Amino acid sequence: MARPYICLLALAAVLLLGIATISRSRGLRDKAHQSAPRIPSQFSQEERVAMKEALKGEPGSPSPTLGPEDLGSTLSSHFNKYLSKLFPTVFKTSFIRHEVVGEYSHLFTVHGSDPSLQPYMLLAHIDVVPAPDEGWDVPPFSGLERNGFIYGRGTIDNKNSLMGILQALELLLIRNYIPRRSFFIALGHDEEVMGVNGAQKISALLQARGVQLAFIVDEGSFIFDGFIPGLKNPFAMVSVSEKGLINLMLQVNTTPGHSSAPPKETSIGILAAAVNRLMERNFVTNALVRTTTALTMFNSGIKVNVIPAVAQAIVNFRIHPAQTVQEVLKLAKDIVADDRVQFHVLNAFDPSPISPSDDQALGYQLLRQTIQSVFPEINIVVPGTCVVSTDSKHYLNLTTGIYLFNPLYLQPQSFRTRFHSWQLPVKYRHI
Ligand SMILES: *[C@@H]1O[C@H](CO)[C@@H](O)[C@H](O)[C@H]1NC(C)=O
Ligand SMILES: [Zn+2]
Repeated sequence: MARPYICLLALAAVLLLGIATISRSRGLRDKAHQSAPRIPSQFSQEERVAMKEALKGEPGSPSPTLGPEDLGSTLSSHFNKYLSKLFPTVFKTSFIRHEVVGEYSHLFTVHGSDPSLQPYMLLAHIDVVPAPDEGWDVPPFSGLERNGFIYGRGTIDNKNSLMGILQALELLLIRNYIPRRSFFIALGHDEEVMGVNGAQKISALLQARGVQLAFIVDEGSFIFDGFIPGLKNPFAMVSVSEKGLINLMLQVNTTPGHSSAPPKETSIGILAAAVNRLMERNFVTNALVRTTTALTMFNSGIKVNVIPAVAQAIVNFRIHPAQTVQEVLKLAKDIVADDRVQFHVLNAFDPSPISPSDDQALGYQLLRQTIQSVFPEINIVVPGTCVVSTDSKHYLNLTTGIYLFNPLYLQPQSFRTRFHSWQLPVKYRHI
């Protein structure tokens, strides 16, 4: 990790500005920034300190880095107050409407001056996955600053987006920014648990209002630095599709028995062989190029001397955009090829459709040009696949252009030591 938080803000700001002025004419690839009015992106010392402190949260009270266990009546009012205290201009601007949706999620509608332009939407989420104190260099909800990094659960997933978007808007508004193109900012509160009360409700609300979007930008992919041997410069990947998912339970029922007279095959043995056949076919390291299979639970047995009647395993598939839930299920059954193994789908969804990334794709081209103007060292921007699931899947009815990108540098060493536990700190530029 070695990228300033300020860059994230700059990206959000340049994106907002660029979108405001992008021409609808042909040849988007080269035109997006040509006529952008320049609101200077210089920040005062005071503004820089305020940005940094905002990401850390409020000492002694519910902060932007909240655990799901904090979801409750206090979250809404505290977070509301925190946001309106940090971003007073956003909340008092007459052309911005703020709504609370599904009790804890937020929707901002920013009305542009040209209603003929199709609006776009920026997404971020408020919630985080739980964080026990073990394994952290600092208490996970402290928002502590050490050696130029801010440590805390949620700093990169996804308070950086949330703060970056709102701060960019606040600072632009202070500088008399009036967008031409309308846009929405949607902040879900339950992204980590499928988003059914947040993003799904916001999506339903917008669909009921007849909204169609030019494109959506959400978290999901990064700037990769040092991952590909021989590639010296970092490259940015903008995900244009999201993998699907199946949580599949495999179950074997046999007659129970005593371990003193074991049958030739036990429920555990049959299941283990089935799971083994499934796993042999895939390598987890190929997550980006194929469907992956992971055994996540294995339950059987109650006593040391009883051969259990039931053995269950749960396998988690992440489905590549070229495949469907039905295809993967059929493949799994064919590979297991044992009638004694029952298949129960616990939950499943297909991969998202692939968003356009050609020369005429407004959202993609705008992101590409914005990335290259904020990070001049990046000369490669590629479309890719997101290996995890985001709130954006709830908005498929609203747009054909969903782009997943978070302007953070990922390096193999930080990936190994921190990413698995999401203890990845955000670095800001020293000021
Ligand atoms: C998308 O639109 C269809 C048709 O109106 C509707 O049946 C479906 O529920 C919508 N899906 C979502 C996820 O909103
Ligand atoms: Zn996230």
